[in-house]
Amino acid sequence: MAETAARALLAWYDRHRRDLPWRPPPGVRPDPYAVWLSEVMLQQTTAAAVAGRFLRFLKTWPDVESLAAADSDAVMAAWAGLGYYARARNLHACARIVASTYDGRFPCTEPALRALPGIGAYTAAAIAAIAFDRPATVVDGNVERVMARMFAVETPLPAAKRELRALAAGLTPRHRPGDYAQAAMDLGATVCTPRRPRCPACPWRGRCRALARGLAEALPRRAPKRERPLRHGIAFWIAREDGAVLFERRPERGLLGGTLGLPTTPWTESPTADPAPPVAVRRLGMLPGVVTHGFTHFRLELRVCAGRARAPAPGGLWLDPGAVDDGALPTLMRKLLAHARR
Ligand code: ADE
Repeated sequence: MAETAARALLAWYDRHRRDLPWRPPPGVRPDPYAVWLSEVMLQQTTAAAVAGRFLRFLKTWPDVESLAAADSDAVMAAWAGLGYYARARNLHACARIVASTYDGRFPCTEPALRALPGIGAYTAAAIAAIAFDRPATVVDGNVERVMARMFAVETPLPAAKRELRALAAGLTPRHRPGDYAQAAMDLGATVCTPRRPRCPACPWRGRCRALARGLAEALPRRAPKRERPLRHGIAFWIAREDGAVLFERRPERGLLGGTLGLPTTPWTESPTADPAPPVAVRRLGMLPGVVTHGFTHFRLELRVCAGRARAPAPGGLWLDPGAVDDGALPTLMRKLLAHARR
């Protein structure tokens, strides 16, 4: 049963696979570097958001050696907008290790891949399967949904994760496991979609228990989500006589680690009434409105405080805001700059 199911899915994939920039033409072995790069970029991000970024990355750094030798600011800038800057730092650290310790060749087993920075269980399995055609079980949110429906698993997520992984492992074939992994992802992304699945187009419609029971759209069930807490803070737009504005580079560790932006107060549960600016200022005033941003575990609401620095305001990172490359800033900082300019 598992083997015929896999065969049916592979036949569907051969006709309907998505044309994505990290996929070589059928029959061509993918470059492990490109597979790794795409999988790290695709963590928590959609294929559409990644495509352009992936191609630019590959053009700038066509192999792991060139990425290992890159300037880390340039890597961070190329990453901007993909979120989770720790991932960009891990990506660069991983490239350096593969270039130096592994002689530029990615290891092919899941345990060796997992030992590298930024590669967790999902990414290790994806690289082992897609780049090296190893029968690794690749489970992302798409695959969980497909399994929950195929086997009509009623246990809600996240409690059902182990069960769904075991079911996915039972279907993983020894023949073309790399294509199978991507086929399962494509099925989840294009047919077995969260809402209004296109069951008549599904290669597994004859064996899907959820479809037979009229439950396809109702599964997977999910435990109710807790609201993300709201945090508050204040960002400072402090301008000097010559028009330069005070920026700061955030600490390497923590959210937005190592990125450039406006200085802010710590982000706290209750709003700060009386913020202390990072340098001596004249005329400090709160701009109307707030800037909001969603992180994985909390939402953030920042107000922007604008002021003039007391001359000559040495020290600190003073930049011409017109000359700062917006594209190199994290999304939150782009929102803040746009708000302050308004
Ligand atoms: N999402 C994560 N990895 C993917 C891949 N290789 N193809 C399509 N979507 C993906």
